[in-house]
Amino acid sequence: MRTIKIAVIHGPNLNFLGIREPQVYGNMDYNSLVDCIAKETAKSAKDEKIEVKLAQFQSNHEGEIIDLLQKCHNEDFDGIVINPGAFSHYSYAIADAIASIKPTVIEVHLTNVYAREEFRHKSVTAPACKGQIAGFGFDSYVLATSQLIKLYKE
Ligand code: DQA
Repeated sequence: MRTIKIAVIHGPNLNFLGIREPQVYGNMDYNSLVDCIAKETAKSAKDEKIEVKLAQFQSNHEGEIIDLLQKCHNEDFDGIVINPGAFSHYSYAIADAIASIKPTVIEVHLTNVYAREEFRHKSVTAPACKGQIAGFGFDSYVLATSQLIKLYKE
């Protein structure tokens, strides 16, 4: 059976899910998100008859997120799902890191950033990614990991 390596990188303030602005981000906490991604990705892997090695990381620091992206490259990950949080809107350094690495990167957002404040309408990191999924809550991540599995199953 083919094995693929997928990393999920959770950016700033996502460790505060359930605490931060529940009217925007809901009541479920960060650990529930991590568990949901693990469970649903395992289901997609089973359906596609593929083995997935999933690693999840969280950081509130721009440089640490760049280190994680480079680590995924150095460790031959196939795909990365990243929610860069507010860094999406201004971090050219993270955009450059995404553009430099081999793994296929999908950007995700819990909320529909295009329906929110104007400063959230622009992502400087999304153009460096294969694609972006926004607005589906925890399912944004699940859709992204299942898409990576589809891309790599052959
Ligand atoms: C977010 C959207 C960003 O604008 C915001 O700064 C976040 C979360 C989302 O998942 O909807 O921290 O990335």
